[in-house]
Amino acid sequence: MGERWQAVDNYIAAKLLGDDDALAATLANNADQGLPPIDVSAAQGKMLFLLAQIAGAKRILEIGTLGGYSTIWLARALPDDGEMVTMELEAHHADVARANLERAGVAGQVDIRIGLATDSLAAMTDEPPFDFVFIDADKQNNAHYVHEAIRLGRPGTTIVVDNVVREGGVLEIASDDEKIIGTRALFDMLAAEPRLDATAVQTVGAKKWDGFVLARVK
Ligand code: SAH
Ligand code: DHB
Ligand code: MG
Repeated sequence: MGERWQAVDNYIAAKLLGDDDALAATLANNADQGLPPIDVSAAQGKMLFLLAQIAGAKRILEIGTLGGYSTIWLARALPDDGEMVTMELEAHHADVARANLERAGVAGQVDIRIGLATDSLAAMTDEPPFDFVFIDADKQNNAHYVHEAIRLGRPGTTIVVDNVVREGGVLEIASDDEKIIGTRALFDMLAAEPRLDATAVQTVGAKKWDGFVLARVK
């Protein structure tokens, strides 16, 4: 089925997304620079853009920049006076992302914080709240990142977490894969968190079988 999922994503992209030089150049540059091809798909990127616009987001937080592909989609959803913070562990990824954001014309609205996201988050105090948070970094820390998103958000803040199905791996109770353990800890945390309304939606497509969490701070 994987080829057919890809073909349908190609159809969706051709019909609804159009050609996009900045995004195509970003993916090409990422590959040239040795970054892994684990960006969100084009259709998922547009979904993030739409969700951020529907939320009326003026301040967006992203955890996990890679080459800035999802960053560009989200930054494009911002109004002129909006701003985005994106967190990335690897300095090389951040360098590649900065060049991609500049080419896309959104660098002026995006602040890349390099280092462990746990540290960058802990350093954030007395900031205006974020309206929209996209979590897409080390899956081990996902429950912690959602806690931080609540702390840095406000009632109504939208939270999206990528890669929470992992080709069904989320069902593996006895897995020793830290990404699966972290994903299951995320679901346990969401189930016990009274400050959120949350769901998870499975997806297939260019990124195989996976899914995302969508949550809203009450
Ligand atoms: N959101 C991107 C893909 C992110 S891939 C997109 O869709 O285009 C995950 C990224 O998280 C990688 O670049 C990885 O280096 C980074 N990362 C992993 N662990 C991290 C951590 N502890 N803190 C911050 N970033 C981390
Ligand atoms: C992985 C991470 C991602 O953010 C993604 O979209 C796909 C895979 C990973 O770490 O394997
Ligand atoms: Mg991801």
